[in-house]
Amino acid sequence: RVLGGRALDLAGRRVAVSAGGTREAIDPVRFIGNRSSGLQGYALARTAVARGAQVTMVAANVALPDPAGATVVRVESALDLRAAMLEAAESADAVVMAAAVADFRPAARSDSKIKKSSAEPDPIHLTKNPDILAELCDRRREGHKPSPAVIAGFAAETDDVLANGQAKLARKGCDLLVVNQVGPNLAFGTPDNAAVVLVAGGDPVEVPRGPKEDLADVVWDLVAARLA
Ligand code: CTP
Ligand code: CA
Repeated sequence: RVLGGRALDLAGRRVAVSAGGTREAIDPVRFIGNRSSGLQGYALARTAVARGAQVTMVAANVALPDPAGATVVRVESALDLRAAMLEAAESADAVVMAAAVADFRPAARSDSKIKKSSAEPDPIHLTKNPDILAELCDRRREGHKPSPAVIAGFAAETDDVLANGQAKLARKGCDLLVVNQVGPNLAFGTPDNAAVVLVAGGDPVEVPRGPKEDLADVVWDLVAARLA
């Protein structure tokens, strides 16, 4: 079966995609966040729907219209995202972690708005967030069933892109790692992306600068090949 020239090669498959950037609350009105727009994750969701997949989109703080045909779960913090992804992973054939997850969160969240006073402000103490991608891979390796057959992550690197990416792929234990080349006018908030997709036990696939849909389709090509 073919749609718009591309086979419905994900028909009957369930996939879960995370997108956007987490917000870690400091107090009821403030948070620590990041610059992820969610565009790449949404492109992944749209292309997966177009290829016939049943898509769960876990969206962290995105200002984008829901991708048609996907089930959207909205989350705010890394801990929310973790809960939503662990649940989605129970029934997913493939999981793609495209979200920018905060590595740290404030160790304590103030229940009331922090007021300024004449004194110097208190430092904000941080604590580590769980590594959701590594956790999904660890659970699978430890034999948790059901687990996704394919687990993919993203990494934005500024230096030693390939070496850092390969080390990260091995450390996390995932099947695919999309390494973005971050630079002027690339990645955050732009419609275009350039990347190298690292493949566990295979050759890297270079994706030249182009629309985020093109990169998404390369990711699904590799996912579909591993599911087959
Ligand atoms: N990730 C995650 N949970 C976290 C941090 C990251 O699941 N707490 C996922 C991201 O969604 C991404 C991948 O891990 O798919 C790589 O994220 P990245 O920030 O590049 O890697 P880190 O392991 O956090 O390493 P560092 O930030 O130190 O480079
Ligand atoms: Ca990180």
